[in-house]
Amino acid sequence: MSPGTTYGDFEFIVVSNRLPVDRVNDDDGGNGTWRRSPGGLVTALAPVMEKADGAWVGWHGAPDEVLEPFEHGDMHLVPVPLDPNEVEFYYEGFSNATLWPLYHDVIAPPEFHRHWWDSYRKVNERFAEATAAVASKGATIWVQDYQLQLVPKLLRAARPDLKIGFFNHIPFPPLEIYAQLPWRRQVIEGLLGADLIGFQRPSDASNFLRCVRRFVGFSVRQQQVHVQYDNSAPGHVSRAEAFPISIDVQRITDLANRPDIIERSKEIRRELGNPKHILLGVDRLDYTKGIGHRLKAYEELLADGKVKVEDAALIQVASPSRERVEQYRLLREEVEGAVGRINGTYDTIKNTAIRYLHHSYPVEEMVALYLASDVMLVTALRDGMNLVAKEYVAARTGNRGALVLSEFAGAADTLRQAVLVNPHDIDGLKEAIVTALDMSPAEATRRMRIMRRQVLQNDVERWSKSFLSELQNGVKEDALV
Ligand code: G6P
Repeated sequence: MSPGTTYGDFEFIVVSNRLPVDRVNDDDGGNGTWRRSPGGLVTALAPVMEKADGAWVGWHGAPDEVLEPFEHGDMHLVPVPLDPNEVEFYYEGFSNATLWPLYHDVIAPPEFHRHWWDSYRKVNERFAEATAAVASKGATIWVQDYQLQLVPKLLRAARPDLKIGFFNHIPFPPLEIYAQLPWRRQVIEGLLGADLIGFQRPSDASNFLRCVRRFVGFSVRQQQVHVQYDNSAPGHVSRAEAFPISIDVQRITDLANRPDIIERSKEIRRELGNPKHILLGVDRLDYTKGIGHRLKAYEELLADGKVKVEDAALIQVASPSRERVEQYRLLREEVEGAVGRINGTYDTIKNTAIRYLHHSYPVEEMVALYLASDVMLVTALRDGMNLVAKEYVAARTGNRGALVLSEFAGAADTLRQAVLVNPHDIDGLKEAIVTALDMSPAEATRRMRIMRRQVLQNDVERWSKSFLSELQNGVKEDALV
């Protein structure tokens, strides 16, 4: 450790691109207060934050605004500023138009630009510096997701006393795809600064370890890598393992039992004219989610007469996302064009084939939608996990309803009783939708029971505990041999 090291006050620090709070604007349009964001990650980590002296380092979402650290509930928040160029190059560019498509099977073509990479590096340095400045001696740091893959190595260099974990929320691609990245060696070295690197699926961890072997040449023994960046610094062992993330089960089941939310779910059914079947899709409007494939299958089912507009309504919630990135703009046009065409063809004065909602909704309304729907459609072409599938299962307290689930979503590893599909196979997808619609109540209940047990036993708190205890346990003995 360098003699000049200064230590901060916090023993446990989460680092993520976004801070876990959203700004609530005043009625007069001013910048008001902050509200905790709805995600499960915050819920899972809030208790750990309370117990340890916890801080969260992240961007607060507005370009060109420098904010002082502030307290929110039991969390100490450290905002990291981004200027408008960095929002464009680091966030929209390298994170969401290079890494995002590259890590999701190149569904959209990734773009490689050197000035985006420079910005990514610079912003990762800023996150690492902000973290190092507030970390107490020997603190535990948990870095989240693909936007910050260089942070572990940068942090280790600045503060070798820290215990560093990293979790990748999205898939890690196969070597043959990852190989396209011009900065493939630097990104892998960046991640290997962590003592423990968590992935969603075992296949993500093994893809990563193959890339380590190929592109950095450190020795790999089972899940463990002996990292020696250069001969002047001491080496360390970094482990790569799967820790499938989950949801805040208690929150969802509590909401699903609330009388006003149950009433709202009935109201939704009534407002749709009490159709025989309600199908539901809930996604960020992202090309990885397979919304176009889902609409195509549904359109063909309407055309074949296997689904009738009088009997069935499809609700598609598509929450706005990354709207300044070209591929997302194109996707919106495509999806909205398809919905318009399908509704134009099949709607009657009384019935609409697809209720398309380009909004985000509070969790209460989401749970009402889950309760109102007979069939949930999750048709992602590639998805790290897909928490909507788990939320649907958790919300189905009556053990009814069917889940159509893509085998390319991480959730398919555990939700084996879903109707599993390859969304590229449109005939297969149509069959899966019909199977779900026609499933007998007894069979639906049998499957939902098993899936609910799985989700209820593995909530997000269990996920964070298992990651953090594995991080504390450190190197496995056989790796030192
Ligand atoms: C995915 C990523 C997250 C990201 C979220 C929303 O779930 O894994 O890191 O925060 O999408 O995307 P956004 O770009 O709006 O943060």
